[in-house]
Amino acid sequence: MPLLLLIICLAYFILYALAFSAPPLLHLGGAGYNQEQQKPLQDSLEAWIVAEEEVALDRLLANVQPGGRNTEGKGVVNGTVIASPSKEDPDYWYQWVRDAALTTSTLVDIYTASPSSALSTRLSAILDAYAHLQHTLQHTSNRSGSFSTNLSGLGEPKFHVDGSPFTGPWGRPQHDGPALRAITLMAYLRAYNTSHPSLWGSREGNEWFKLLYEADMPANSVVKADLEYVAQYWNQSGFDLWEEVQGLHFFTAMVQLRALREGADIAVAFGDPGAAEWYTKQAAYLERLVRESFWDEGKGHLVATLDSPRSGLDCAILLGALHGNPSPLSSSSLEATHTPVFPPYSDEVLVTLLAFIQDQRARFPINATPPSSPNGDDDDADTIETPVLSGTALGRYPSDTYNGHTSTPSGGNPWFLCTLTASTLLHRTSTHLASTHSLTITSLSLPFYRFLLASSSLQSHIAPNTTYGDGDAVFHSIVDRLRSVGDEFVRVARAHVDSEGAMSEQFDRRTGFMQGARDLSWSYGAFLGVVRERKRGAVDL
Ligand code: NOJ
Ligand code: NOJ
Repeated sequence: MPLLLLIICLAYFILYALAFSAPPLLHLGGAGYNQEQQKPLQDSLEAWIVAEEEVALDRLLANVQPGGRNTEGKGVVNGTVIASPSKEDPDYWYQWVRDAALTTSTLVDIYTASPSSALSTRLSAILDAYAHLQHTLQHTSNRSGSFSTNLSGLGEPKFHVDGSPFTGPWGRPQHDGPALRAITLMAYLRAYNTSHPSLWGSREGNEWFKLLYEADMPANSVVKADLEYVAQYWNQSGFDLWEEVQGLHFFTAMVQLRALREGADIAVAFGDPGAAEWYTKQAAYLERLVRESFWDEGKGHLVATLDSPRSGLDCAILLGALHGNPSPLSSSSLEATHTPVFPPYSDEVLVTLLAFIQDQRARFPINATPPSSPNGDDDDADTIETPVLSGTALGRYPSDTYNGHTSTPSGGNPWFLCTLTASTLLHRTSTHLASTHSLTITSLSLPFYRFLLASSSLQSHIAPNTTYGDGDAVFHSIVDRLRSVGDEFVRVARAHVDSEGAMSEQFDRRTGFMQGARDLSWSYGAFLGVVRERKRGAVDL
């Protein structure tokens, strides 16, 4: 019997060692400037995206220590990602655990695509520093708690840039931070392992890996501590990603679920089967909660927070679908082993996106579109709803009152990161369909696809409960429209950056001028996410 066990363990080990030494992923050309852009194209969206990619990466890295223009020599500890260099009105001169993890995941994506580039050498130093600092922050007692009291301190949402705890009142705890951090560091762990094939099993490898994952309990490695936190706290109420309301949230639950699923795989790889079993079990409970509770049949869309007086339409749903599922470009093997939960291309997410777009279009004056027909008299108030799905400036949620500085009765504004996330979802859906060669339109998704094809004569050909494939004009039209509407959202963002290509947090709902924290790291990360998705689409098709 023990021999059999040994053989099974050995087989698992070999399997995972092999999985970990897979050849480096497809090289996508990194984030560099494409110098072959031709003159006549200078004004095109394509040329702008190429130039803006460089701007976004440069301005994102300016917010990251070591080496950042905005952080160097300013008392910012190595491994810190500041949310924005703005120190007052608003004061974003902090490291938010969420913003830092999401921004760092953008850097991991770039590293993964091209690990041996000169840029990746710099990124690797940043990523190592990030991992070390997160270990320190996990052990820094704060107003949410401490490491030794059931890991409660890991729920703290933000720290000062020198790594000391923020002691003012705040919406705490926030449970999404540890999940996002674990996802980011697991992606780095896999990418680094793939690009250093002899590391796994070697002595220096063990040294490198143990900061990130090691089976010991109490958890001393960063990823394991975060996973233990997620496994323990996912069913407890906390503040949402907008730091305003307490409860159980779609975004938080989605990233927790992804973290637990990926965490179980990592635990197996590191010979920690007990942990793998525990994460898998919690993931199964959490999956049930997510699948059964966040779809609101009456409203016909997903809701951001359970039992909330808000409408539930929220950019957080888009972010949850995006970050709660691995990108097909990531080295995660989840897509192969688990049914994705509310992925960007799912019916539920697409109809929620449609409802959100319709709300936001009517809400923000800058979204007013010129009359679609020259003789159309639009006196009828009911016709505000534009029948065509098109690029729209999107904010956080309908009843938002935060204008980037304070709360105002006149309401919130569109955000770059929300507008750009809609673009990423549409591009990902397009690429998903193109690569699966099949689309079944259900009665649930019918309105979304009807709106998408509203300007086409093919619209009347769409029928519910029908599967379309490569041989159908409808199919190709949908794939193309998803892509061009995705680009329309990029055009919206482009219209509101300044002459240098800088992006703040928001832009004014009436004037369109940038508003709120300048050079928001997360805005740049969201833009680079679209760029990555567009490149993948171009390769696949
Ligand atoms: C700052 C928070 O970060 C933001 O999300 C919130 O909307 C405002 N405070 C107003 O509460
Ligand atoms: C306010 C946003 O609501 C929140 O999500 C973010 O973490 C902080 N600003 C910092 O960017």
